[in-house]
Amino acid sequence: MVSFISFVSLALALASTASAFPAYGTLAGLPREELARAVTNLEYVKAPPPPGPLAYNGTKLVYDKAHPFKAPGPNDIRGPCPGLNTLANHGYLPRNGIVTPGQVITACMEGYNMENWFARFATYAGHLVDGNLITNLMSLGGPTPKTGPAPPAPALAGGLDTHVVFEGDASMTRADAYWGDNHSFNQTLYDELASFMDKYGGGRYNWTVANEFRWQRIQDSMATNPEFSLMQPRYFTVYLETTFPILFFVDGRTTENRTLSKEDALSFFKTNKFPEDWYRTGVPSSFDGIFDVAAAHPIKPGKNVNGVNTYEVDPTQPDLSQFCGIYADFVNRIVTGLYPNPTGELLEALNINLQYLYDSISDNFCPDQQQFPYGKPQ
Ligand code: HEM
Ligand SMILES: *[C@@H]1O[C@H](CO)[C@@H](O)[C@H](O)[C@H]1NC(C)=O
Ligand SMILES: *[C@@H]1O[C@H](CO)[C@@H](O)[C@H](O)[C@H]1NC(C)=O
Ligand SMILES: *[C@@H]1O[C@H](CO)[C@@H](O)[C@H](O)[C@H]1NC(C)=O
Ligand SMILES: *[C@@H]1O[C@H](CO)[C@@H](O)[C@H](O)[C@H]1NC(C)=O
Ligand SMILES: *[C@@H]1O[C@H](CO)[C@@H](O)[C@H](O)[C@H]1NC(C)=O
Repeated sequence: MVSFISFVSLALALASTASAFPAYGTLAGLPREELARAVTNLEYVKAPPPPGPLAYNGTKLVYDKAHPFKAPGPNDIRGPCPGLNTLANHGYLPRNGIVTPGQVITACMEGYNMENWFARFATYAGHLVDGNLITNLMSLGGPTPKTGPAPPAPALAGGLDTHVVFEGDASMTRADAYWGDNHSFNQTLYDELASFMDKYGGGRYNWTVANEFRWQRIQDSMATNPEFSLMQPRYFTVYLETTFPILFFVDGRTTENRTLSKEDALSFFKTNKFPEDWYRTGVPSSFDGIFDVAAAHPIKPGKNVNGVNTYEVDPTQPDLSQFCGIYADFVNRIVTGLYPNPTGELLEALNINLQYLYDSISDNFCPDQQQFPYGKPQ
């Protein structure tokens, strides 16, 4: 009897997962049949235009009474990004970790004073490869449940955890996906970071620590991870994420000597919590500083081609001096690789989100360089 009941509940569970593709699950890279099944079962939400800049872009109290810290519950989704996890733990993003691009843009501006164009650029890049383009939702991480019992779906990592397309190797406090867990806070790596703060930053995170630890993590992955990759867009984000602690995590009342204490670093990286009484920076910021970090220990984009210590530069890859090339590579290689033959609503959604991505850089960086990987929409 017991086994009969468990058989029935198992069958019911399988039946319900078969029809219920999660509305926030990424559609990227799904095999053709599964993609068709998922799209049919999801309600299409046409992506609205993104929010504009903040009316007030100076410093202000962010850890206020309206945004208390609450650790995530068992069903709340968190991922590899300490910046976004923290916003969710304080209610600047939905605490369940299921978000829309508009919410992410607003939260990055409100919480960290991220420049509007840059918040749009990072968000649509993430959404295109890790979000659900039909429902206009994305998750901060977490595995995408399998779509059904037959044919077996690949155990795709979900949301921002998805490897290679945005998440990547040589993170500061997260291990490479090769080791299994690509998104959790890793104490061993943090301890190494803290020792670099002692050695190069007088006990704090400053630009010298950013330079040296960035290089150390690249060398470490090169020597230990046979699948180490520094192909775009990871090449860009690997430098980007080392600047964020200085640009965005330092209290906004600090006017000079912008460095981060270990205590505050741990609060963001590990607990995903704003320090008590924390103010956002008074200077709207984007990616200031990545060129200097990259110049400290130059290396070109590439990957280990045949096991550890076989790093080869890929001469077809754009480097940091070719920002529009990074955009073009992302759109033409990564996005189309995940969605080779979109049709119908999916094609429309891709084109809308690609347009929003390009809009973020059309005036300031890449005028007249829009890419149309699926042809110009009519
Ligand atoms: C538009 C929104 C954003 C998206 C889509 C995003 C996504 C991600 C992803 C996927 C990673 C993982 C990189 C990896 O492990 O390979 C990451 C790392 C990181 N993010 Fe974000 N992020 C966003 C905004 C922010 C903001 C606003 C901050 C800071 C305030 C931030 C700070 C960081 C830091 C410091 C890391 C490095 C973590 C580490 O290496 O230990 N991010 N982000
Ligand atoms: C910040 O706000 C001021 C006043 O509205 C505006 O002039 C300035 O361009 C804004 N800065 C950024 C980077 O958005
Ligand atoms: C933490 O990272 C180190 C170095 O990459 C790795 O050896 C270790 O397995 C990771 N620990 C966990 C718990 O993932
Ligand atoms: C990323 O980590 C998650 C959770 O540990 C895991 O399910 C997923 O397979 C990992 N992705 C890759 C590509 O290793
Ligand atoms: C970082 O801190 C160390 C130790 O105080 C100092 O020698 C170094 O010059 C600092 N780096 C920068 C860029 O200020
Ligand atoms: C930077 O500021 C911190 C905190 O105010 C202080 O402890 C540290 O000594 C300062 N470093 C320098 C080089 O001024």
